[in-house]
Amino acid sequence: MKKVIFWILGIFVAIQLIPIDRTNKPVDKTQNFVDVIKPPKEVVQILKNACYDCHSNEVKYPKYAYVAPISWSVKHHINEGRERVNFSIWTTYNTDQKNHIIDDIMETVESKEMPLKGYLPMHPEADLTDAQRKVFNDYFKQLQKSGKF
Ligand code: HEC
Repeated sequence: MKKVIFWILGIFVAIQLIPIDRTNKPVDKTQNFVDVIKPPKEVVQILKNACYDCHSNEVKYPKYAYVAPISWSVKHHINEGRERVNFSIWTTYNTDQKNHIIDDIMETVESKEMPLKGYLPMHPEADLTDAQRKVFNDYFKQLQKSGKF
């Protein structure tokens, strides 16, 4: 029994040594959604509080993101999240892509798929109310209609 515990502890310590890249690429203000599109304050707040930790180059890593294997899961979500939509490089998407992304944003926020559920217990400010979801989606609907994105 002692041996098993010894090995589990040893493996736990060893996996902490595997390096994880937590650097953020620098944010170019001429590409960043919030700077270019200039949404109203309430929408900016929702984006920054509830989305930017996985969908931007302004990720703030929480303390628990430094402990493996949780850190692997966090990094995986950030990689996947950025791949789907990275608000920091908004202007690099073409009109088709932006249209698709806006559709997906409205869909996933309405269905409460986003922000990811696992993120909420440690980030209560990201646990959006129905009213916040509506403000957010109304904004994106109007943005899409305006064609100025
Ligand atoms: C904790 C990380 C995390 C947070 C916070 C988060 N997302 Fe995501 N998001 C992901 C991951 C991972 C995926 C890809 C896997 C998936 O679709 O579940 C994703 C996928 C998406 C997609 C693509 C969906 C699709 O069908 O392909 C959109 C759009 C999106 N997120 C929008 C948002 C918005 C808007 C917010 C804020 C209200 C947000 N996300 C918050 C991690 C996150």
